[in-house]
Amino acid sequence: MKAVILAGGTGTRLKPLTFWTNKHLLPVGRYPMICFGVAKLREAGIRDLVIVTGRSALGGFADVLGSGRDWGVSIVYRVQEEAGGIAQALDLARPIIGTGEKFAVLLGDNLFEPSLRPFVEQFEQQKDGAMVVLKQVKDPRRYGVPKLDAATGKIEFIEEKPVNPLSSYCVTGLYFYPSDVFSIIDQVKPSERGEMEITDVNNIFAREGRLQAKVLDGWWTDAGTFESLEEAGRKLKGFLP
Ligand code: G1P
Repeated sequence: MKAVILAGGTGTRLKPLTFWTNKHLLPVGRYPMICFGVAKLREAGIRDLVIVTGRSALGGFADVLGSGRDWGVSIVYRVQEEAGGIAQALDLARPIIGTGEKFAVLLGDNLFEPSLRPFVEQFEQQKDGAMVVLKQVKDPRRYGVPKLDAATGKIEFIEEKPVNPLSSYCVTGLYFYPSDVFSIIDQVKPSERGEMEITDVNNIFAREGRLQAKVLDGWWTDAGTFESLEEAGRKLKGFLP
């Protein structure tokens, strides 16, 4: 299975650090953030990676990861010319994913302590549709929040950053898709903030009854703030040599 790591964006909440570098190149302990995603996916058995990032950051990723050889993976880079949302960034992987091929998508600022291997294996067994990974959190209002169908375990819909969350679960930035996700992206229109939202893509799968959910046990963060960045450094200490 291939995986796409999305590593663009402006990193607004991490200014002034992100004035001079991409968020995913910032240090988490002794390593640039992007290394954790690469190592986690490799550990889950994924060897073919696509990294999507902006033009100015590309050289930094090449400096850190190169072809991926030293990390036991093979990396293809795709350049996002302008920020247009997660779904627009994901669409840049379209030429690399074959018809009928299933793949994983990881938001590069999402850092996980437990192994991702069970999710990869579960999705390999899944007959149709997409799968997202959920995590119970204290403040779901910062995230996409799913409404689950108790009978089937499928997601009915996801609300992005709801004021009154319908559950205490959030959708993490680890997604699994069949290759028809690209025809679903074609149906999505930019949101009010002018972005192609991944939640709109997932909601089309949900409406079709094709969105499975799995729950993550163990520590996870989206390292988009100084607090979460520092916590990630502590939690993941020792994960990389
Ligand atoms: C994005 C998604 C959101 C998800 C989150 C996980 O939000 O839109 O549904 O819960 O990633 O990190 P963002 O961090 O871009 O605001």
